[in-house]
Amino acid sequence: MIVIAIDGPSGSGKSSVSKEVARRLGLAYLDTGAMYRAATLWAQQEVGDLTDQAAVADAVAEMPIAVGLDPDEPVFELDDVDVSETIRSTSVSTEVSKVATNLDVRAILRGMQREIIEAASGEDGEGIVAEGRDITTVVAPDADVRILLTASEEARLRRRALDVHGEADAAAVEATKDQVLRRDRDDSTVMEFQVAADGVVTVDSSDLDFEQTVAAVLAVVEQ
Ligand code: CDP
Repeated sequence: MIVIAIDGPSGSGKSSVSKEVARRLGLAYLDTGAMYRAATLWAQQEVGDLTDQAAVADAVAEMPIAVGLDPDEPVFELDDVDVSETIRSTSVSTEVSKVATNLDVRAILRGMQREIIEAASGEDGEGIVAEGRDITTVVAPDADVRILLTASEEARLRRRALDVHGEADAAAVEATKDQVLRRDRDDSTVMEFQVAADGVVTVDSSDLDFEQTVAAVLAVVEQ
């Protein structure tokens, strides 16, 4: 069963495009960023001090997470509570890099991600689109299709502003800028997601709309 790995920075369109590709091809959909977000929310609740790396890793190791794989509604639960919305809150977005740069946390989540991908790509699986920042390089370097979805900084900030504020005027772009660029910089200390690794196909969505980006990804899959 096919495994499609898609990486990219914030605002590249990675999540919406990955979901649509999974929907069209009838595949499962894994949002690994949502797992890091859920881990952050859990650590905020259980530990509080996110700089206590050992305590955060211990909490994440025991995290009662349910990972939704339906591209129409990828529901995430912690302790049977639907946290799909809460994990998108500003308080999680501003702190997620602290948890994602904890190497013990990364090892735990990668293990879970590999298990999910393995199950979906096995004989009884339906195949999967897995998206994030280290899927093409570390989590699933053997994926059948590996894509880096990029976009210019300007395009990324415009899209993020639209997502978060519902508009992309100068003020909205400015308001998202600090958060997005700081997160990219913090994330870059432990992972490389701005440059395609060997064998990874780059799709630049700067001048493409949503439909065109989906079509470009599907064209790579069909190659
Ligand atoms: O909000 P955005 O789409 O930019 O990001 P996301 O995909 O929801 O990921 C949120 C955060 O999770 C990233 O900023 C990284 O810190 C972390 N992450 C990661 O470390 N590795 C991944 N494979 C995916 C996300």
